[in-house]
Amino acid sequence: MCGIVGYLGPEPAYPILIDGLKRLEYRGYDSSGVATVEPGGEMSVHKRQGKVANLEAHIGAGVPQGTVGIGHTRWATHGPPSDRNAHPHLGGNGKIAVIHNGIIENYEALKELLTHRGHDLTSDTDTEVLAHFIDEVHRSTGLDLPDAVRVALKEVVGAYAIVVLDESQPDRLIAARKSSPLVVGIGENNAFYVGSDATPIVGYTKNVIYLEDEEVATMGRDGSLTIRTIADAVVTPEVHEIEMEIASLEKAGFDHFMLKEIFEQPKSIRDSIRGRIRLQSGEVMMSGIDDHWAKWEQAERILILGCGTSWHAGLVAEYLFESFARIPVEVEYASEFRYRKPVIRDTDVVLAISQSGETADTLAAIRLAKEHGAHIFGVCNVVGSSIARESDAGAYTHAGPEIGVASTKAFTAQVAVLTTMAMHLGKRLGKLNDQAFMRLMTGLDNIPDLVQQVLDNASAVEHIAAQFAQAENALYLGRGYQFPVALEGALKLKEISYIHAEGYPAAEMKHGPIALIDENMPVIFIATQDDVYEKVVSNIQEVKARGGQILAIINDGDTKVRALADHVLEVPKVHEALSPLLTSVPMQLLSYHIALMRGCNVDQPRNLAKSVTVE
Ligand code: M6R
Repeated sequence: MCGIVGYLGPEPAYPILIDGLKRLEYRGYDSSGVATVEPGGEMSVHKRQGKVANLEAHIGAGVPQGTVGIGHTRWATHGPPSDRNAHPHLGGNGKIAVIHNGIIENYEALKELLTHRGHDLTSDTDTEVLAHFIDEVHRSTGLDLPDAVRVALKEVVGAYAIVVLDESQPDRLIAARKSSPLVVGIGENNAFYVGSDATPIVGYTKNVIYLEDEEVATMGRDGSLTIRTIADAVVTPEVHEIEMEIASLEKAGFDHFMLKEIFEQPKSIRDSIRGRIRLQSGEVMMSGIDDHWAKWEQAERILILGCGTSWHAGLVAEYLFESFARIPVEVEYASEFRYRKPVIRDTDVVLAISQSGETADTLAAIRLAKEHGAHIFGVCNVVGSSIARESDAGAYTHAGPEIGVASTKAFTAQVAVLTTMAMHLGKRLGKLNDQAFMRLMTGLDNIPDLVQQVLDNASAVEHIAAQFAQAENALYLGRGYQFPVALEGALKLKEISYIHAEGYPAAEMKHGPIALIDENMPVIFIATQDDVYEKVVSNIQEVKARGGQILAIINDGDTKVRALADHVLEVPKVHEALSPLLTSVPMQLLSYHIALMRGCNVDQPRNLAKSVTVE
């Protein structure tokens, strides 16, 4: 989704803005732009459809010199991608520039009002309406611009993170948010940085303030910072230190972030369980659960909410929690849950799973659940994200920044944390005996090394990918713990290679998808030797009988499925509850190589955003 960067300080803004825009590319975008106030006092605006490189080429050698500026990567909502619709947008006869993430829902009504008052709008965007509306309030009330922004935002319905640059006041920058994240970085020499997340800021400062909903920040060149709510209450800013290292935002020698992140999994899984599983004392430490034990002890149901890959991690958790802790679990798409009058009780524990912690639907769903008295537990990767901050308790996944749009290491870290949680609950509730608990604990501790073994065999996946690279469809089948892995495998393939792929429970195949099978249909089975292995073998036979091309993910040394399948990829045999942590890895590699062979942009697939911050 859209990305925001802003700078006010002693240095030229443009290099900082361009660097920030490049760091924000991972979010997914279709155009970009910058605005600065130049030393002569005039506003300078450049924007271009396409990549940030297009913007740089358009600007050429005559780069802006101003020491205050804003930059934006746009992911189209209102109006197609174009130079005209790219941000920044101008109001006040070109004297006020605005960049905006989010959606202004009442923009049509505001536009009508503005048109009536003689404003001339030239783009299709809701953001230009906002720029003109701020100017209208500014001029009609005579309020100073920060107050005009505040008053204007009171009339706005929808989500926004905005930064406003004023040609007549180049010594200040104004930022505000509601339901769309915004971070203010405090640098040296009175410099301020603004970002839609920490990535464009972290190279310059580690000290940040997370703006809360309906807060307006005014930064001054003298180092002053005032924050007021749109209702005009003064807010005392709380400065946080971010832990992210700039090196974690680089490719570190890999061709793509996705590949780097796949190969980081031994470390990211290790980091997600470090300090939580204690082999020597035979216990799990999970303060987010223990500090609110009464909520878990009385929980009549665990409601899991998420979207995309995080929803798939939630499906794995359904098996884990029901099996280990014997608490009923429901897994819901946050987007459906929030709009269907769900029954929520104060005896529910709601588990919100989100890599970014900013997914609009998941955030709205937890707010709804909170209103009904449910206890909210967040499983997020991004520290300080909205979902993490709005949850009653939680556990960070500690996977490190995930830049590739296709989620990989975040998924396995989520599954590892959820496994740890389920084990802990099972033990504390007396549903998991010591022997089973210890077996799981030892198994989980061993997983990072086994993931490394799978990665050591990555070249085998590349060879198989070549066989499937020209496919138009693919079917992913698994049962039990491998069903969510099948869904996740299919999602990975479609999002980065644009091959249509479906994930199904293998047994459901006979109820419809079997009609699709012919000699052109790749069928990927996850056929590990677990409780339902023999059933899956029968499903493989059924596909083979109809000529489908079979790739099976099998356990090391499985000769039965090897004899049936056209291709196999082996993973070590582990406890079935831990196996998704291994079987998902060859799926990720398969998608990566297929996408590469098809010439797709692996890290920034078309139309997709890393974090879906609008509905
Ligand atoms: O940040 P979140 O985990 O809340 O994001 C949820 C989905 O948008 C995300 O998992 C998406 O499906 C990924 N592109 C999957 O690779």
